Amino acid sequence: MRDSADNGPPEIVIDFGQNVAGILNINFAGSQNKTDGLPGLRLAFSETLEFLTNRSDFTRSDNARGEDKLTNGTDQIAVQNEPYTWRDLLGCQFEQQKVCSDGLHGFRYVKLWLEGLPSDAPYISSTGSIAISSVRLEWSAFLGTPESFTGWFECSNEELTQWWYDGVYTVDLGTDVFLANETEPRDARSPSLEGKQVLFDGAKRDRDPYVGDLAVASLTSYLSHDFAESTRNVLEDLALHQRADGWIPPASINNYSLPLFDYPLWWVVCSVDFTMYSGNTSYVEAYWPAILKVIDEYYPKYMEKDTGLLVKSAEMGYGDYAFLPRSGPVTYYNALYVHTLRYTSTLAAVLGRTDDAHRWASRAETLSKAVRKHNFDSRVKAFYDGGSCPNDKAGTYCDVHAQDGNSLAIISGIADKNTSTQILDYWHKAAARPYGNAFYDSSVLSPDDQFADRVYAFISYFELQARLMTPGASNSAFDEISRLYGWMSSHDPKITMWEGIGPNGSAYQGAFTSMAHGWSTGIVPLLSNHVLGVVPTKPGFKRWRICPVLEFGDVSWAKGEVPTPHGALGVSWAKRGHEQVTFNITVPHGTSGVLCLPEIGLRNRNVTVNGAPVAPDTFTQSRFGIEEEIPGVSLGEGAYSVMMGVA
Ligand SMILES: *[C@@H]1O[C@H](CO)[C@@H](O)[C@H](O)[C@H]1NC(C)=O
Ligand SMILES: *[C@@H]1O[C@H](CO)[C@@H](O)[C@H](O)[C@H]1NC(C)=O
Ligand SMILES: *[C@@H]1O[C@H](CO)[C@@H](O)[C@H](O)[C@H]1NC(C)=O
Ligand SMILES: *[C@@H]1O[C@H](CO)[C@@H](O)[C@H](O)[C@H]1NC(C)=O
Ligand SMILES: *[C@@H]1O[C@H](CO)[C@@H](O)[C@H](O)[C@H]1NC(C)=O
Ligand SMILES: *[C@@H]1O[C@H](CO)[C@@H](O)[C@H](O)[C@H]1NC(C)=O
Ligand SMILES: *[C@@H]1O[C@H](CO)[C@@H](O)[C@H](O)[C@H]1NC(C)=O
Ligand SMILES: *[C@@H]1O[C@H](CO)[C@@H](O)[C@H](O)[C@H]1NC(C)=O
Ligand SMILES: *[C@@H]1O[C@H](CO)[C@@H](O)[C@H](O)[C@H]1NC(C)=O
Repeated sequence: MRDSADNGPPEIVIDFGQNVAGILNINFAGSQNKTDGLPGLRLAFSETLEFLTNRSDFTRSDNARGEDKLTNGTDQIAVQNEPYTWRDLLGCQFEQQKVCSDGLHGFRYVKLWLEGLPSDAPYISSTGSIAISSVRLEWSAFLGTPESFTGWFECSNEELTQWWYDGVYTVDLGTDVFLANETEPRDARSPSLEGKQVLFDGAKRDRDPYVGDLAVASLTSYLSHDFAESTRNVLEDLALHQRADGWIPPASINNYSLPLFDYPLWWVVCSVDFTMYSGNTSYVEAYWPAILKVIDEYYPKYMEKDTGLLVKSAEMGYGDYAFLPRSGPVTYYNALYVHTLRYTSTLAAVLGRTDDAHRWASRAETLSKAVRKHNFDSRVKAFYDGGSCPNDKAGTYCDVHAQDGNSLAIISGIADKNTSTQILDYWHKAAARPYGNAFYDSSVLSPDDQFADRVYAFISYFELQARLMTPGASNSAFDEISRLYGWMSSHDPKITMWEGIGPNGSAYQGAFTSMAHGWSTGIVPLLSNHVLGVVPTKPGFKRWRICPVLEFGDVSWAKGEVPTPHGALGVSWAKRGHEQVTFNITVPHGTSGVLCLPEIGLRNRNVTVNGAPVAPDTFTQSRFGIEEEIPGVSLGEGAYSVMMGVA
């Protein structure tokens, strides 16, 4: 690089080809300065070209105050005259906070230009020349290699297959060691997390593990590399910071005090998921008292006597996953509580804790009735969001409906099949956008933020799951996935999945938006759990269910493996029109389960297992506590070829 008087300082832009996370290294071949002060180089990082400017799209100092604030948006180097390797560590080259950099970055592009900050005088000069021999990255995150994949997925639709791997890559980028100098500076540093593997929310920010995010990101982690340790470290650490009233903090930020109302429930859901996937029942036994405090002490305090509904009052000042300006008998909080009660009740039954199982199942039933009675808007045929409109002191339901409450109402069994179909039809009509389904059907709550044009892949996961669970709705899931993941995968930085999408498919919070956010990787569990169809029904896949959705857009075959503590559970299915479906299943030692034989309009439903005709059984499966009848065959350890239809 040479100095030039013509068109501003000389600059180069390096494109790493995809989003990455780590510590940038620059091998300098030397530098020359004509006056006092070493030649200065400034660096701006960005996940997208759109926000690649003369300051980083986001850098740690943006959230820092006082002594923690080292930069004003760019990293600085005073390049030495002799060849050496510079590493982008957090800190300053000289005393009194001169020539500083913010350290680790999540980025795709980095711009370097010859300039010294006036405030870095006398150490730095804006004239001279700098020679760079090479640039490399010290990769910081989980490195996914062919050997590290203990689970995989492939299907006849190449885009879906690609998105499965893109989702895994997104979570890999956020799987890293927690270090005080690489996390969010707003009081997120934590001695009890220091040095441990965790699952961060995003690669670029906040680089703090949030438990709601894990409701999706951990599933991606279990299903791809079977890496449960990062999740367990986070769950255990948050449990150790449980408040006396039962509330569990969402993350270490603000010294474990960020007030979110929904995240303690997600902590419970994630604890059950962890137990189901990892089979580590010692974890859940150790933290059962924490679960009891959340479910039986914290939330019941906020249940209103008259209606029986869970109510968040505005005075509490609590937010949720999207810091939404709503309070009252919000459907989402109620439905998430029902979901938690039912899911945890299933685990309690398996663990022989029958009293807890019954108490929670019965509370879920009562609360479900209350939600149906009070919160359903029979005019549009969907649940109200549940809060009142801004400035409405009367406290009547605002005429607004949300994706979160409606999706969770379906998943938790509050809505029956017919109601679920009506809700999903309404939601498609009201909220479909070219880049996914919006999370509100109106922007009345927050006109400036245009909620009716905002899409969260995170909360869309639950809507998509609802579509895949509701008979007749699976093709609508394919349509929504094609819009949502099709949009992100075709827009910069591609491959990685975004924290949120705003009007016109934009990054919803501009440059600040994290473009690699693990909570948006629902595509991985959706494909593995619903299209491959594998779900654990007892801890550690001791028992499981294989219920693939066979009507899913143009998908005519799917295959893959799901890692279990007993070995991989392999599934391959292929359909031939309305004639035949075949399944090859490999069941690991010490496990057993049911292969569902779904109704997909086959001409005949003759079934053979390894060539021998069998009569399918009917199984009663409990899914989140809802009993349902499924025709299927029972399978234990071994390899099977199952055929349904015409030979
Ligand atoms: C370049 O700057 C360094 C550090 O300030 C100084 O020691 C050196 O003398 C300068 N070189 C020239 C040629 O001025
Ligand atoms: C970036 O450029 C803008 C406009 O050219 C200027 O106002 C601003 O001060 C620059 N910021 C930095 C960090 O150099
Ligand atoms: C940021 O810029 C302001 C205004 O130029 C300056 O006062 C301050 O010292 C700078 N801070 C850092 C950390 O560089
Ligand atoms: C943070 O500190 C650790 C040592 O505790 C060090 O290995 C690492 O490189 C530092 N990271 C940055 C970005 O400075
Ligand atoms: C964080 O909170 C704990 C418990 O309230 C307290 O002991 C500790 O000093 C706080 N840490 C900081 C950095 O404020
Ligand atoms: C299971 O969880 C317990 C309690 O959290 C932990 O001490 C143990 O190391 C875990 N076991 C494995 C195999 O990860
Ligand atoms: C559900 O809808 C079907 C078809 O419209 C109807 O026949 C059935 O009675 C409905 N069931 C309930 C419980 O409303
Ligand atoms: C979205 O596009 C419309 C039409 O092109 C435009 O008027 C509007 O300003 C855009 N909004 C944003 C946030 O980009
Ligand atoms: C099942 O395995 C057989 C034998 O390897 C193979 O011919 C068939 O294509 C497989 N079917 C599926 C659906 O994978």
